[in-house]
Formats: sequence, structure tokens, C-alpha cells
Amino acid sequence: SDGYDLVVVANRLPVDVSLDEAGEISWTRSPGGLVTALAPVMAGADGAWVGWGGSPGLDLEPFDVDGTHLVPVTLSADDVERYYEGFANDTLWPLYHDVIAPPAFHRQWWEAYQRVNRRFAEAAAAQAARGGTVWVHDYQLQLVPRLLRELRPDLRIGYFHHIPFPPLEIFAQLPWRTQVVEGLLGADLVGFQRGGDAANFVRVVRRLTDLTTRGQVVTLSTDGKVDRHVRAAAFPISIDSGAFDALARTPQVQARAREIRDELGNPTTLLLGVDRLDYTKGIRHRIKAYGELLEDSRLSASTTTLVQVASPSRENVDAYAQLRDEVELLVGRINGDHGQVGHAPVQYLHQSFPMEEMAALYLAADVMLVTALRDGMNLVAKEYVAARSDERGALVLSEFTGAADELTGAVLVNPHDIEGMKDAITYAVHMDQREARKRMRRLRRRVLGHDVAAWSREFLAVLTAVPTREHHV
Ligand code: G6P
Repeated sequence: SDGYDLVVVANRLPVDVSLDEAGEISWTRSPGGLVTALAPVMAGADGAWVGWGGSPGLDLEPFDVDGTHLVPVTLSADDVERYYEGFANDTLWPLYHDVIAPPAFHRQWWEAYQRVNRRFAEAAAAQAARGGTVWVHDYQLQLVPRLLRELRPDLRIGYFHHIPFPPLEIFAQLPWRTQVVEGLLGADLVGFQRGGDAANFVRVVRRLTDLTTRGQVVTLSTDGKVDRHVRAAAFPISIDSGAFDALARTPQVQARAREIRDELGNPTTLLLGVDRLDYTKGIRHRIKAYGELLEDSRLSASTTTLVQVASPSRENVDAYAQLRDEVELLVGRINGDHGQVGHAPVQYLHQSFPMEEMAALYLAADVMLVTALRDGMNLVAKEYVAARSDERGALVLSEFTGAADELTGAVLVNPHDIEGMKDAITYAVHMDQREARKRMRRLRRRVLGHDVAAWSREFLAVLTAVPTREHHV
């Protein structure tokens, strides 16, 4: 073919690929919010998806899954260590999440980041049709927009940032801050989760470059002649709400939800946490608050259960290995202090589950706890709401998530304030049915009324309205 009109570029493909002993390809769905959001968008589009298959050193030919053409980018063991675990997840991730963990700055990691970004840009350049659109995703690939524009000036290039964009004072710590900003400015449209993220970015552009900005539009020119404009704007991401709602209404999922409560010994109150095991998610803060509520007898240890799903994530990065130890110590201590034979007040699952099982867990839970210290959006909160067509259940939600801007029917908390969180959990547990229903209706109106298809339509519509250089001259 002459290439694809729409090419998505993300660090990960929507599937993790591995080879079995017979050399046959097998795959499972990749973790995280980016794939949750983008997979349904691409399933309906005749596009290509450029990304990493998740195994170091695995060199694969392009293949098709669910009508999407998947183009694997190979990462060596060294690339994984320096670009993915190093620069992306031990430098940028903590830096962009309010320095909750200290970011590490290593010049060799930066070298690897540049080298791998170039490889992604080349792969995308090879897939896109003339005048086509390339949509680059997330912090792992911030240099791709500019590298790609150098290779293919005919393309429309969009970039979406799935995680927070930090305030200038934090971003300015990055030794390679100017190169990163220039990388992003290779796009025609730079999208963020929240208005605050877009404002942080524009402020960074103003302070770290000598470009002119007007509102959220940056103008690039040479010798006083305008080359092009870059627009920054907020596009809060969502999920395939309708599909999730439908899944949670199936008799199988409903039966499984009842079965889960049975298997847990029919607790009076079932609390639920679902996260990648990540220090940004506030898992320790949540479990600490829960432990104190049991300690103070504000919750009964014999009739309450907290199910905490913590799916394995970035296990070779020290901060993640350390967090796992801390969470497991805390869980063990609470179960030791407050458990009985046959009943543990915390059910901790260091595993990931298929969507059907997640939908059943959401339906089974009385109160969902989303207590991230910082989160770009948090799609678990939206999945919980989409699953609750019974208009029951309550959502406790951290103010520091992008979702909090939209999900105003939730009980909002500051996860650093343990006393405040204990009060909010108690309030949600005892909320009367009328109030719970009213709040859930409001939540569902938002989540079902603005799904991920609307999000991608809006982003692509704004991107398409940006005049390309070809239209200019
Ligand atoms: C977040 C990021 C994604 C990332 C996902 C899973 O949602 O925004 O870019 O893919 O976490 O993390 P991982 O490192 O396993 O890809």
C-alpha cells in the first residue's frame, strides 16, 4: 500500500507479544490507561499502530490484530534498561508526577532516549501515507514529533500527553528540558488531560524558548517569517463507556459479581482498590487509612473486606520493587492484627485480570477507592462508574487526578490527609441510597456522555483544522 492515513505511535503496542517454544506468536493485552483508551479507537479505524511488543530483543514482522496493523519496534535489553526503565520511568515519570519519588538524571539514559525516539520516528515515517496524520502518544516519545517532521514535512502531527505536565519549577530541573520542549513543538497540536497541564506547558515554552505565544498558540518563525503554529489544548481522555456498561450488564458478569461476594463470606461492606502497583497511586495511604479505621473500630474487621488489586508494573525499577515490599508489609500487618481464621480484612492480589473479572469486581464493590497522589486522568474511576448501571456504589476519588475535574459526583479526598480520607471512606460507606443514586447518576451522565470515541474525534478534528505547510504555500 502507499501507507496509512492514520498512524498511532506509542511506546507499547496494544498487546504484549511473546514467542512460545515452538516459535509461535502469542499475545495478551498490554497494561495501563493508554492502551485501555486507544485500543477501542483503533479497532474501528483502518490505521497502523507503531510500538514495542513488550519483550526485550524480540524482533518481529508487522502483524494484524482486530483490524489494526501492528508495527513492532525492537528494543534491545540495553534499550529497555536505559530508555524504558531508565529515562522514561526513573527520570520522566517521577519528575512529571510532582517528584513523589526522586527522579534520576543520567546522561547515558538520555542518549538511549534520543536513539530510541529516532527509531520510533523512522518507523512512523515509513508507515504514513503522503499528507497523512500521525498521532504520537505519551512521555516516552516526546522527541518523536520533531524528528518525524524533519523526515516527513508533509504530515500532520498530533501529540497527546497521557500523564501530568509539571509546573515550570519542576520541569526546569531536567537537564535536557530545552530539547524535550523542542521535540514536542514538532507537533501541530499538543494535547493534555487538563487545562492546567496545557497552561504549564505554555508557560514552559515561554520561559525556555524565545518563541512568541498568544493564548495557547505558539508561533514558530525564521527571520520574522511565520513557519507554522503549534496549538496546546486540553482533551480529557475517556474509556469505551458503552462497551463497558454492556459488559457489566451481561448475566455472566452479574453472576460472577454475586459469586465474588459469596467467596468473600458476604461482607457487609466491600471496598475496592484497582491500580498498577505504582507509587503515584496512593496505595499505601489508602491501606493506612483503612487499617486505622479498623483499629479505631469505625469499620468492623469481621464484616468489612478491602480487595486491593495491584497489577505488576515496571518491576525492574527500584522504586517499584521497594513499593511492593512496603505495600506487602502493610497488608501483612493489618491482616495479622485484625484477621481471623478464614477471614482476612485485606485481600491483596498482585495480579492482573481480564476485563470481565474487573467488571464483576466493580459491580461487587460498595465503595471504590481511587486515592492517587497524582494521576493524569485515572481510567479505573471511569470504568467503575460505567459498570454501575444499577446506580449503586460510591466513588472516593483523589483531587489530584484528572478525573476529579469531571467526576464531581464523587466524594473527593486529599490522600495525604489520612484523617480526611478516613472521614470520606466512612461517609461513603454509610451514604444513604438516595444520595448514592443521585451521585452515581451524575457520574454516569458524564462518563457515558463523553467516551473515548468522542475524545479522539475532538482531538483529530482540532488537529485536522490546523493548516499544514502544504496548504500554506
Ligand atoms: C500509564 C502511561 C502509559 C503506560 C502505562 C503502563 O498509563 O501513561 O504510557 O503504557 O502507564 O505502563 P508501562 O510502563 O507498563 O507501559
